Amino acid sequence: MARVSKEGEGPSDPEMSGAPPPRFQHYFTARPRAPHATRSLRFLYKGRVLTFTTDRGLFSYEQVDPGTSLLIENMDLEGVERMLDLGCGWGAVGVAAAVGIPRGHVVMVDVNHRAVLLARENLRANHLENAEVRQGDLYHPVGEERFDLIVSNPPFKAGRDLVLRLMSEAPRHLRPGGRLLLVGKGSQGVLYYQRWLEERWTKVEVLGRGGGYRVLQASGFPPP
Ligand SMILES: C[S@@+](CC[C@H](N)C(=O)[O-])C[C@H]1O[C@@H](n2cnc3c(N)ncnc32)[C@H](O)[C@@H]1O
Repeated sequence: MARVSKEGEGPSDPEMSGAPPPRFQHYFTARPRAPHATRSLRFLYKGRVLTFTTDRGLFSYEQVDPGTSLLIENMDLEGVERMLDLGCGWGAVGVAAAVGIPRGHVVMVDVNHRAVLLARENLRANHLENAEVRQGDLYHPVGEERFDLIVSNPPFKAGRDLVLRLMSEAPRHLRPGGRLLLVGKGSQGVLYYQRWLEERWTKVEVLGRGGGYRVLQASGFPPP
């Protein structure tokens, strides 16, 4: 994927008022208070140039994360009508998926309010109406809805319990034949998560590798 970045102006939204920003906040903070520093990024997906605005306080806001890039390259959308992008950030995965399934529907979820606003803006900027962005914790914003594919570059920094919750609650949100697609690298414990899936799901494949990352696809989920 080609990418280009340049500095821009920060949007004016009310989240910036109040106390001075802390020196460090994780990207998964619900209401980041880091000063805005927006960027423009672009990448090519299925022959289409996709444009994005990103901002400080979000995961990988200066460039597309290499794991995310590998995840998108290995995202098989064949037969997918409904897809969930869990932890969508500024929207790289979900926006690409919306392009890939023009007659399908993509639900994007993130806990980070700033990410949600930008993911919505990025859907608009790419003229995509077959996707929506919801704010909240993991599967909470989707209630009982089910999907053909759940895709995530999980928030590993939020801790193992959260990643295990993401994987163990996936079956409850998959349609029959549904798949879970994840990316991670060795230092994030991807082998541990691969083994965890292998012990529970019928089939776990490594669809892509590169730069220490691997893309895992799990199918044949255990009973919810
Ligand atoms: C590793 S980043 C991936 C972002 C984006 N998908 C990408 O690949 O660029 C993980 C994302 O999960 C979000 N996140 C963290 N905890 C979450 C939670 N409990 N529920 C939903 N999203 C969460 C973070 O805000 C972050 O945007």
